[in-house]
Formats: sequence, C-alpha cells, structure tokens
Amino acid sequence: MKNINELIKERRTIHSYSDEPIDDRLIKEAINCALHAPNHKLTFPIRFTIIPKKFRKDLSDISLMIKRRKGKLLTSEDENKVIKKFEKPSHILIVSQIKSTNPLTLKEDYATLAMGIQNFSLFLWEKGFGTKWSSGSIIKESGLYKLCGIDPDKESIEALLWAGFPGKEPSPPKRPSVNDVTRILGSTNP
Ligand SMILES: Cc1cc2nc3c(=O)[nH]c(=O)nc-3n(C[C@H](O)[C@H](O)[C@H](O)COP(=O)(O)O)c2cc1C
Repeated sequence: MKNINELIKERRTIHSYSDEPIDDRLIKEAINCALHAPNHKLTFPIRFTIIPKKFRKDLSDISLMIKRRKGKLLTSEDENKVIKKFEKPSHILIVSQIKSTNPLTLKEDYATLAMGIQNFSLFLWEKGFGTKWSSGSIIKESGLYKLCGIDPDKESIEALLWAGFPGKEPSPPKRPSVNDVTRILGSTNP
C-alpha cells in the first residue's frame, strides 16, 4: 500500500477514462473524506450533485452549445467525441459552494472546498481511480444550474468533478523545487 507521501506526489489529474465503474459506496466514502477537510467556523459549505449516466447527454449538450456559441464548427465526429467524453467516466459530480454573504467566509469556504476535493481525489487515487477538477465555462452556465436544480443566488458551482478508472495517465507536470518557493527569514541562501 502506498504511503501518503507517494499518494500525494503520484496523484495525477486524469483526462481520459475507461467505462469501468466505481462502486457508489466508494464515491460516498470519498464525499465523506471531503467533509473531513479543515473548515474554519465549521460552515460545511460543499455540496455534491451526482450526475447519473442518464443525464450525461444533458451535460454534453451544454458543452456543445458553448462550443458552437464560441463559433466552433463541429463535425458529427467532433460531437460524438464530446458525447463520449461525458458518457464514459464512472462518475461526474457537480461541486458547489454555499454562498456566504461574508467575503472572508466566502474565501475560507472556497479553501475548504478545494481541500475537500483533494481529500476526495486522494481517497479514490489510493483505490486506483482518477479524478479531474474542471473549471471550464460549463460551470458558469445557467443551463447547468438548472439541470442540477441549484439556485445561483444561494450556491456557486466551482467544479465539474470527473471520477473513474484512468484511461491514460499523463506524465507529471514539472513543478518548482522546494527551494524555489521557500524563503528563510534572515538567510540569503535558502
Ligand atoms: C481550481 C482548479 C481548476 C482546474 N480546472 C481544470 C480545467 O478546467 N481543465 C483541466 O484540464 N484541468 C483543470 N484542473 C487540473 C489542473 O490542470 C491540474 O491539477 C494541473 O495541471 C496539475 O496536474 P496534476 O493534478 O496531475 O498534478 C484544475 C485544477 C484546479 C485546482
């Protein structure tokens, strides 16, 4: 079994998935892990909306509409690719944040949401499943709010979260070294 250091460093954002399913109980446990993220004032601001397969076409329709609105000319092959992209992964979840009227709480709640997604992802990674946080234009679409029954005055959608068995694992992106990002006060050499 991998230790936490290996899990953190080896987790990758997964862009392509096979259609192998994740047991719903594992998804529920991943959500439970998200609930264990640090949370100032214990506001529990994260909400998950699971999008079952029968609603995936609604997601691809929204995505295709956005592409067309941006002026993209789509062949039927392009359209099928988008449909498959949303159809394939075992789970797609919409992650939203309860909107606080306090700007500091709003910022701190987003931190909790991000840590929650990391907990969710690391839990599934340890079980052999990948995830991806998407923050593309689809999360701003009124059609997505409508589909999920989310009132935009009360909650903001922050992520479309993909989860499934990794098709192809990307190579790790180059990251800065610890010395690149660390200063020691009073020292010229880190
Ligand atoms: C807030 C946030 C939004 C992201 N949105 C996208 C996205 O829209 N599309 C995408 O391909 N990846 C997205 N990602 C994933 C990052 O691109 C990915 O984490 C980064 O490339 C590092 O790769 P790694 O997760 O494999 O280490 C997002 C990540 C975060 C934290």
